[in-house]
Amino acid sequence: MQTLLINIKELLQVRETTVDKVSGAEMAVLPTLKNAFLLLENDTIAAFGLMRDCPKIDADVTIDAKGKMVLPTWCDSHTHIVYAGNREQEFVDRINGLSYEEIANRGGGILNSAQKLNETSEADIYNQSKKRLEEVISQGTGAVEIKSGYGLTVEGELKMLRVIRKLAADYPITIKATFLGAHAFPLAYKENRSGYMDLIINEMLPKIAEENLADYIDAFLETGYFSVTETERIMEAGKKYGLRSKIHVNQFTAINGIAACVKHQALSVDHLEIVTDDDIEALKGSETMPVALPSCSYFISIPYTPARKMLNAGLPLALASDFNPGTTPSGNMNFVVATACIKMKMTPEEAINAATINGAYAMGINKTHGSITVGKKANVIITKPLNSYYELPYAFGSNHIEQVILNGTIVK
Ligand code: NIG
Ligand code: FE
Repeated sequence: MQTLLINIKELLQVRETTVDKVSGAEMAVLPTLKNAFLLLENDTIAAFGLMRDCPKIDADVTIDAKGKMVLPTWCDSHTHIVYAGNREQEFVDRINGLSYEEIANRGGGILNSAQKLNETSEADIYNQSKKRLEEVISQGTGAVEIKSGYGLTVEGELKMLRVIRKLAADYPITIKATFLGAHAFPLAYKENRSGYMDLIINEMLPKIAEENLADYIDAFLETGYFSVTETERIMEAGKKYGLRSKIHVNQFTAINGIAACVKHQALSVDHLEIVTDDDIEALKGSETMPVALPSCSYFISIPYTPARKMLNAGLPLALASDFNPGTTPSGNMNFVVATACIKMKMTPEEAINAATINGAYAMGINKTHGSITVGKKANVIITKPLNSYYELPYAFGSNHIEQVILNGTIVK
């Protein structure tokens, strides 16, 4: 057995027992221990507590983090890390005045990435994507959800999901895969929407299920993309294969999509830049986690999710990166947490809860990830020396991470 003992200035997100998620006022509290120890055995958290109560053991590895913070690794529940090429030209086009919608209407946007993806080999997509995965690991992410959705053809979607599966096999980070065939209507189906719906439901889904390539199903429920009715068909079809839904919704417009997602027991509803009172009512008391993606709001200059309004209504909230080539070419969860504090007026406690325990819930791994709890995965971040954990979002441009441990092994 391999044991690793850390002596810590402040240990964050300590939970004696597993909690599913934290909501509303509970999110204001981030349980911590000052002058603490953390004991890891193989890939599992074995014990934690005050340093004065530390058992006298001769650990295989000891780490002195007396001036430092230790926290669970980030759980990034919404990304599109697997893609081909990039969209730098669209970035400059937006600077010069075009909107995201105008670029998409000219055949750019998701369709631009889909064309590149379909022209690129599986091996090449893997090599491009693994660099992004390695980068987010070094930035402290220990679990990540990755979507397909840039194939939009049977072969393209399968190719993306196979790359996700290979990444999951090759890297120590926990990965959940989401099938997002309903990301946009390909040009060939512009006048034949039901034809593309049939392709997703009757051809893509059965093959994906047969190869066991996805954990969840997603759709872009938005004006100009998938309607409420079309998204409900996708959610229904997913259920038949045991795939719960995680839906892109309310990014640009509110069209009563959230109530439909709650009705279908979606695990999460993501984006939520535009949120109405009815949307908040629909989410109250549900099992559906709202997920905000502040780096996307930052990058394409759209409103930020109204976190205060949602938390004050008693809802939980998770934070994720949305790492993708079009709206968020960054998977830096430190930046996500800082932006949530600076732009959405979340407190550091709320933002850290949102990026750890609630992120774990939003990707269905809350029993094993997202907090320092005995029995959970030994996935932790050790920071550089810090005054307090407020410094994490406060010094938003600094790299605060010194070491990252995944499954009990130091990976950075
Ligand atoms: O989450 N909104 C839909 N999908 C992605 C962006 C897609 C793209 O522009 O490539 C998102 O922002
Ligand atoms: Fe997204």
